[in-house]
Amino acid sequence: MRPEDGASVHHRDLTGTTALVTGATSGVGREVALALGRLGARVLVHGRDRDRGEAVADELRAVGADPLFLRADFADLDALAGLADEVREHTDGLDVLVNNAGTHFDEGWVTDAGVEATFHVNHLAPFALTTRLRDHVADDGRVVTVASEVHRRGDLVFEELRTSEDYDGFAAYGRSKLANVLFARELDRRWDGPEAVACHPGFVPASGLWRHSSLPVRAAMTVFSLVPRPLTFGRVDTAASAAVTPTFLAAVDAVDGGAYYRDCEPVTPSEQARDDDLAARLWTYSEDVVAGR
Ligand SMILES: NC(=O)c1ccc[n+]([C@@H]2O[C@H](COP(=O)([O-])OP(=O)(O)OC[C@H]3O[C@@H](n4cnc5c(N)ncnc54)[C@H](OP(=O)(O)O)[C@@H]3O)[C@@H](O)[C@H]2O)c1
Repeated sequence: MRPEDGASVHHRDLTGTTALVTGATSGVGREVALALGRLGARVLVHGRDRDRGEAVADELRAVGADPLFLRADFADLDALAGLADEVREHTDGLDVLVNNAGTHFDEGWVTDAGVEATFHVNHLAPFALTTRLRDHVADDGRVVTVASEVHRRGDLVFEELRTSEDYDGFAAYGRSKLANVLFARELDRRWDGPEAVACHPGFVPASGLWRHSSLPVRAAMTVFSLVPRPLTFGRVDTAASAAVTPTFLAAVDAVDGGAYYRDCEPVTPSEQARDDDLAARLWTYSEDVVAGR
């Protein structure tokens, strides 16, 4: 199934628009990038691996799109600044920014910015990229941040972000995904013009997300990925079926700004994810870390 068909946006003509999809070298991001390219958008394909990025760019050229691969490691804030500069250099503006790149680490570590790495890659990086591109996103543009239902198990305690002591990979991942939902909410509140939303894509056991996980987790994901989708009552996704909601949010005419979506519908996120004070505090905290404070 093509994501644009699943999202019922196959009739949309995105010719003349430009979209940046982060983490587009594999999984959900690759599928979103291809869908937006088929709909006519110019797609900037972000990733870390040049060969895989150029392969996605070739797939986009094959459907008549005009892609460009841009490389940056999201664990490196300087590389993110460079990515934002390259986006400016190669485009007149962005209509869609899909913050999709994400990771899961089984072992904890602290990045050069002094924060736990999952939080850095999954939240701080899209925060830094998006805010750097503020005046480059069109007034009627859209920022889609790919979060997860796992945000419901996240707990955001700022004092725990500067260390990887007592690290728990799933807790860190849930916390970073909670930050994604809070970020979209606060971004939508702060920015006039562009709409910001967050979403759960689906559960993709075959994705690369679990490659840094423990052996038992990787084994469980392999087993899940072998079960035919109909037998899971739609609870297990392929990368293409998980790309439906992000593609919908990137391409549909109008969205509910600040909302969290699942299955192309706004749904109520966790209590912490609806806490406006926490969202504002996270924004200030993130600004401070990005500024080196
Ligand atoms: N898979 C699921 O079940 C699931 C469920 C809910 C939400 N999500 C979310 O969906 C999004 C996409 O996940 P996926 O399942 O498609 O995973 P994936 O196949 O591993 O794709 C993740 C993408 O992010 C990139 N990325 C990872 N770490 C990076 C870094 N440090 N710097 C730059 N790029 C980096 C990857 O590039 P490399 O290949 O170079 O690492 C890849 O292009 C993530 O935000 C994830 O949290 C996934």
